[in-house]
Order: sequence, then C-alpha cells, then structure tokens
Amino acid sequence: MITQATIQQILSRIDIIDVVGSFVKLKKRGTNYLGLCPFHNEKTPSFTVSPNKEIYKCFGCGKSGNTISFVMEHEKYSYVEALKWLAGRYNVEVEETEVSAEVKAQQQVADSLYILNGFAQKYFSEVLLNDEEGQDIAFSYLKERGFNEAIIEKFHLGYCKESRNAFVTEALSKQYNRELLVKSGLVALRNEELVDNYRGRIIFPIHNTTGKVIGFGARIIKKNDRAPKYINTPENEIYIKSRILYGMFFARQVIDKFEECLLVEGYTDVISLHQAGIENVVASGGTSLTTEQIRLVRKYTNNLTIIYDGDAAGIKAALRGLDMALEEGLNVKLVLIPDKEDPDSYVNKVGAEAFRQFVAENKKDFIIFQLEVALKDAGTDSQKKAAVVNQMAETLSRINKAEDFTRQQDYIRQCSELLQIEESGFTNLVNKFIREKVNKLESKQFSEQAYSHNEMPPPMDFDGSASDEGFQLLLKDELQERAVVRALIEFGSMQWDDNNKVADHIFSECVEDDLFDNKKLLEVINTYKLWYDAGLEPTAKNFFYHENQELSAVVVSLLEFPYELSDKWKDKFEMAVSSREESYKQEVISTLGYLKLRKIKRMIDENQKDLGVPHSPEEQLNLLATHKALKDMERELLRHLGTVIVR
Ligand code: GTP
Ligand code: MN
Repeated sequence: MITQATIQQILSRIDIIDVVGSFVKLKKRGTNYLGLCPFHNEKTPSFTVSPNKEIYKCFGCGKSGNTISFVMEHEKYSYVEALKWLAGRYNVEVEETEVSAEVKAQQQVADSLYILNGFAQKYFSEVLLNDEEGQDIAFSYLKERGFNEAIIEKFHLGYCKESRNAFVTEALSKQYNRELLVKSGLVALRNEELVDNYRGRIIFPIHNTTGKVIGFGARIIKKNDRAPKYINTPENEIYIKSRILYGMFFARQVIDKFEECLLVEGYTDVISLHQAGIENVVASGGTSLTTEQIRLVRKYTNNLTIIYDGDAAGIKAALRGLDMALEEGLNVKLVLIPDKEDPDSYVNKVGAEAFRQFVAENKKDFIIFQLEVALKDAGTDSQKKAAVVNQMAETLSRINKAEDFTRQQDYIRQCSELLQIEESGFTNLVNKFIREKVNKLESKQFSEQAYSHNEMPPPMDFDGSASDEGFQLLLKDELQERAVVRALIEFGSMQWDDNNKVADHIFSECVEDDLFDNKKLLEVINTYKLWYDAGLEPTAKNFFYHENQELSAVVVSLLEFPYELSDKWKDKFEMAVSSREESYKQEVISTLGYLKLRKIKRMIDENQKDLGVPHSPEEQLNLLATHKALKDMERELLRHLGTVIVR
C-alpha cells in the first residue's frame, strides 16, 4: 500500500489543468476550461474543467470526476496505478507501507478458510463417491437427474451425511478451530453443541476464479417443506456473494474464446450445460446481478446472454441488473426457456444440439425485449405509452461510454421505429436524460438562481403533452436525499448556532436511517460522520480523493458545477444575486424540511392504503386519527417551507 504521506504529497502537487491538459486541448473560459470530451465523440466542446474545485464534467456524456479518476478512466488504471503515474509525473517518491496488523489478521483468517474449505470439499466428495450412504442416497440421486460421474468429479460435488456431526467430528480430529468451523458455515452451534449444517444435502463447492473453494451451496435431497431447498455459505472473509458467479473458474477460458458469457440461475443449470458441452456458462444464484458480478463478466467478454426460465420472478430479478450492465457497456441478450422448464431440465429433455439451436434462434436483445413487453402492456393508452417513451429514453441514456456511442444511436433508431415517434425528438429526450443525470440537483425546487446553463434541448413533447413529467417522477425520490447530503458536504463545518455546526444540526435531525433510501448517499453521510467524529472538518475534497472511487463519484455528482453567472442576467437586473453560501442556513432548513415532508407523504400514502381495506370500527378510528395527525404535521411543515408542493 502507498503511504498516506506519499498520497498527501501527490495530492498537494497535482494540477488538474496540467494533467487533463496533457490529454485534452483546453481553452480558458472564465474561471473554467473547456475542451472536446475524451470520453465520447463530439464536435463542439462540452468537457469542462474547474481548477478551483479540481473536478471535470462533460455536459455531453455526463462523465465527471477528479484528477485521479481522470487518469484512471483515461488510462484504464487502477487507483494505485493512477497514483503511481501521478507520482512519476510530479517527481514524488513513492513510499509503500507494510500491511497493518489488522489486515494481516484478516489475511490469516482468509487463508485458514481456504484450507478448511479445501479439506471439507475433499471430505464431502469422498463421502459421495465412496461411502455407502453417499452412494445410496446422493450419488443415485445425481445419477437419476442425469449427471454423469465425470461431471460430478469435475465440479467436485459432494454429500454431507444425515448424521448430526459426522463432518464436525472429522474436522475437530484434524485440529480445525471451532470458531473457524462456524465462520465457514459448514458447522452450526446448536445449544452449545457443534453440528453439521448441511446434513443430508448435496454439496456444490463454489470456486473463485483461481479455483480455490470459497464456499458451498447445499441442496436438500428429500422433499421437506420446512427446510430451504438450498443453504449457502454465510458472508465471510472469502465468501462475498456480490462478487461471485458460480462456475466462472470452469467457464472463463471458454467465455473468452467464444466471446460470450451465458448466465443462468442455478448450480444445476451450469453443470448440466457443461455436461452437454456448453461450457461458457455461469450462474447468479437467482438474484439480480450486482455491478461487481457484471465487472467480472466484463473481464472476459462484452456479450452477456441471460438464459432464464419464463417465470416472472427470474426475469424480474434479471431486469433489475440490466441498468448496471448497460452502464458497464455490456451487450445483453435474453433467452426465455419455455414450458416451465429451466436450462437444466430443458437441455436434458431436448439434448445439446437442439438446446444450442433454441438459444441461437430465440436470442433477443434485452433492451428491445424490454420495450416490446412494455409496449404490449401499454396497449392503446397514450399516457402509458408516453411513460414507456420516457422509460426507454432513460434506459438508453445509461449507455454512455464513448465507445458505445454508435450502439446508442442504433438503439435510438430501433426504438423510435418501434415506438413510432420521430427519431430526432427521441434523440433529444435521451440527451436530456444524460444531462439530467449530470444536473440532477439543479431542480427548480432547490436552485432558483439564474445560472447561465448551456442551451438545453427543449423538453420533448409527446402527444402534445409535456414530457417533463417522466423524469420528475423518476427523480423525485432521491432529490431530497441528495440535497441534504450536498448541504452537509458544502456547509457542514459552518456555524449553525452558538454551540453547533451545521453538521451537528443535520445529524441530530437525521437520526432515523430510513429517511434515506439511497445506500450510497447513506454511505457518504456515514463516512462524513466518521471523519467528523474524529475531529476532521470534511470537505468535498476528502471525498474526491477517497480510495473508494464510487464514493468519490457520488460526491462529484452531488456538487454543482461552478457555473458563472450570466452577464446578460446581471446586466438585466443590475443586482447581485445572492449565492448559496450566503443563505446556507435557509438551504439546510428547507432541504431537511423537504426530506421529512417526503417521509410524511409516504406515511400518509401507506395509511391511506390501509384505510382502503376493511377494519374493525376501532382500528378504523385509529387509522383516521393517524391520518389527521400526519396531515397536521404535513401542513405544519409546508407552512414552514412556504407554498411549494412536493410530489
Ligand atoms: P434444482 O431444483 O436442483 O434443479 O435446482 P435449481 O438450480 O434449478 O434451483 P432453482 O431454479 O429453484 O433456484 C435457482 C438458484 O437459486 C439455485 O441454484 C440457488 O442458487 C438459488 N436458490 C434456490 N432456492 C434457494 C433457497 O431456498 N435458498 C437459497 N439461499 N438459495 C436458493
Ligand atoms: Mn432446476
């Protein structure tokens, strides 16, 4: 690890204009610099760099960040590589630390877990292949399902006997530590007794990409309504669910070769497809894809084909992962397996060749698929159709990597055809969403100041109705949260009253965590609090250079880019425009007020839903009283906030 002293030295020497300027031709424009964006194709410059805030932002594609993230993005460097590159450029000698005791201890636990898992895997395989119970109950079950011995061995499948503690006993006799056994999830503590956790289950070892066993899935054999079908390793030092794709170790080279990764839901789907000779396949475990899983796929290919059974739950889960896949630049295709089958049962039914053919013929572009489903849903309802238009534009706005520019154009063409709307208007709408993302905070509610925005395309009209609605709805939930976090970062260390800083006030007002839905914003707040409690006065800069670049990106996106006041505006009114800094207390009061108001509105909604269903008279009265109390609170808040109605 690079020492803090070195990092500090690098940070004190870097000059964003110098660094960015060595890749992009920049021209001075007021206090900012302007150039052609290196991250997407453009003819007129919309890439802006602020030397004061040490950030850049492209108003065309939405990319933004600090000096380090610029080097990372432009040169495809990791955080550490970017730091080293900067150190070289500014003649800073890089000092690296030895790892801390804490990190060392963690590494030791991880190493022990690998060893224990390896031991357990061999033990369970041995039971499956050579033990009588293993053969009679488990091996025969797998055979019956169509798995052959070679594939069982390749995937290191195993069996955990029905006895209470056959595995524990073996492990303890080999001196494995009790605490570690529990941590691994292989063993559970019941009434102070250690018992096997996967009794009577088939064991599916889960490997990391280098082939080490990091955890297990354990499937029940005998039907039992009270026990879950699968049990998985709990999160620990080496089993981090959000980063795992089952089967990646066996699939990665084939994925690389065929330039395609197939994604299925279950362990058995992966194994059956392998047995059928289709080896570029991994499983997500039935949950929606995480960004980390998508990045893992992206290391090997840009083409992801999701093969799910046609039931609604699986598709919904997959859909949730789509937006991130787009942002990461993946080409996503979808194949739905018919007739209540899953890939495992389907390939067993029709055979490898027919399966391949089915996939090839039924591969649908995921975005187009989504559009078709939504359009069918909307029917002839023009309002619903307008919502679909907005939804699609929002989805397409997420394809914003420079290299994906033509792909985005392609989609815009296809979608406007399917939607039967003008392509140019639809392009404008997509661009508008891209800009919206950049300017999320410049909602009318919060900044009424006159800034000289670069010309925005006019909102697109669909059916003659203003389409502003669409993203107002999309954004309404986060707007208030973002505003509070921005106020915290910008004004946190300013005085609130004689005894308190603004940060103290905000923390005392936001004690309930559930005021915030956005996990990332919550992380920003918690990080701020951590620093603040340690005596720091955190500013945006602390976040910019935080090692967690995601956190840094969130904060960059929160901050208003320093626009200059338009001269025209100044001339016209000949008055000073009060800046946000001058009215920070008011801003804090109103952002907190809006956040609470939103919460109350939700409670009112929920209460009203409750009122809609039959209750005893007593309960009904209670609900009505609650309704009235909430309404009173709402009115009171609104009175304080003025007359603006938040939806
Ligand atoms: P088989 O029924 O043996 O063919 O397994 P499957 O892989 O087809 O299971 P299914 O389609 O029901 O579920 C897909 C995946 O979701 C599984 O492979 C598991 O990873 C996960 N899963 C299913 N049921 C459970 C459960 O009860 N608990 C947990 N934690 N995960 C489950
Ligand atoms: Mn199945």
